[in-house]
Amino acid sequence: MNNETIMLIFARIVKETCRSIGYTVKRSNASLPNTMALKIGITGVKGIGNTHADAYAKDDLAELVAVCDVVRERADKTAETYGVKAYYRLCDMLDAHPDLDIVDVSTGGDENGGWHYEPTMEALAAGKHVLVEKPISNRIEEAREMVESADEKDRYLGCNLNHYFTEPAERADRLFAEGKIGEPVFCLHRMGFPGGEFAYKPVGGPNAEGFPYFHVKAFLAHPFGIMRHFCGDITHVQAFMGRPGFRRRETDLLVSVNSIHLRFASGCIGYLFSQRGDATMGLGGWWSLEVGGTKGTFCIENCVEKMTYFPAPGADGSASPENLGLGQAPEPEVFHTGVRDFKTTFPRRIHAFLEDVANAVPKHRLRASGRDALATLEYTFAAIESFESGGALVRPHPLPRRQRRADEG
Ligand SMILES: NC(=O)c1ccc[n+]([C@@H]2O[C@H](COP(=O)([O-])OP(=O)(O)OC[C@H]3O[C@@H](n4cnc5c(N)ncnc54)[C@H](O)[C@@H]3O)[C@@H](O)[C@H]2O)c1
Repeated sequence: MNNETIMLIFARIVKETCRSIGYTVKRSNASLPNTMALKIGITGVKGIGNTHADAYAKDDLAELVAVCDVVRERADKTAETYGVKAYYRLCDMLDAHPDLDIVDVSTGGDENGGWHYEPTMEALAAGKHVLVEKPISNRIEEAREMVESADEKDRYLGCNLNHYFTEPAERADRLFAEGKIGEPVFCLHRMGFPGGEFAYKPVGGPNAEGFPYFHVKAFLAHPFGIMRHFCGDITHVQAFMGRPGFRRRETDLLVSVNSIHLRFASGCIGYLFSQRGDATMGLGGWWSLEVGGTKGTFCIENCVEKMTYFPAPGADGSASPENLGLGQAPEPEVFHTGVRDFKTTFPRRIHAFLEDVANAVPKHRLRASGRDALATLEYTFAAIESFESGGALVRPHPLPRRQRRADEG
């Protein structure tokens, strides 16, 4: 037995012991010994793959080992930047690094998800955990298979639903946990790339051209993921969609405006408005979310920037109903993060995935899992079906049953 093998066994024993006594690995400034860090290989290193590489390189829980891209120059360039090995086929990266723990799938493809299935399935078949970019796929059957495969092989499949790995979302989670929201009554989400007719440019590139549902399939994973994170499963979907005159005049077929009415399993009612550069969003920045509960309401503005809590009249520490005039509410509590850079969501989300894998959390506790991403795609397909049927009510396809594992207790 060589030294490396002994260290690996030691690291595994430490990890298992930590798990059994309930100790969890959290972010710390002190570097972990390399043997504790999870070994990472990234496939697809054009735009977002490089953002991921940077996050892994700076994270104590990760050791970036190799990168791969079918375009040689891209793989070579990223490999040189991070001092790691370059490969041009995933199978070669897997063969050369049998000790990889995680394969990060940052490929794009049709509707930004067409190239996710193959590398994900290949990495899962090789026994690796996978973090795949969103949308999990652009084809619903593939997404279902990916989730089923991870479940069968008992591997972690996470998706980069990074928009709710933020300080405002964490504060909102705490409000729920502290009982300050109560039963959710409504969930209103508005999400739109700032734009209008002056700045109009058709969405270009091979991932988008010729795909009228490019925006719907590539993007709605985020808002659906956020709404489901706070309010649970969605059972009913009804959608109107369209595009403004300036797109129609250019025979641009992109379905760029989406108005989607929702009902959650809990009975909560929701509404999602989404648009891609057709107008400029007013209140709440490029996206805002308001969840109103029986005990209080929170509102997240501009994704990373601000969270406000509005206690219900009579809630602990807030004004009593009898002291409030018509339409008046208790004073809200406002929290500004001082952060405006959306890119901060990437290292936070990636760190959460590393934490979950390092801590060997039960698979159903994985944050932003493949199953969560599949749910967002089921809702997306339900919304498309509703729109294509003139706004009919559609029940999304049910999520697969998970195999129950010993670690679920
Ligand atoms: N989570 C977010 O906030 C966010 C933001 C933007 C983009 N994205 C997602 O990130 C993903 C990547 O986006 P992008 O703009 O970098 O995509 P891209 O299409 O520009 O680049 C993908 C890269 O993957 C490579 N590739 C494709 N198939 C491959 C394979 N089988 N093996 C190895 N390399 C392969 C391509 O050569 C290319 O270099 C997309 O799925 C997109 O939806 C997520």
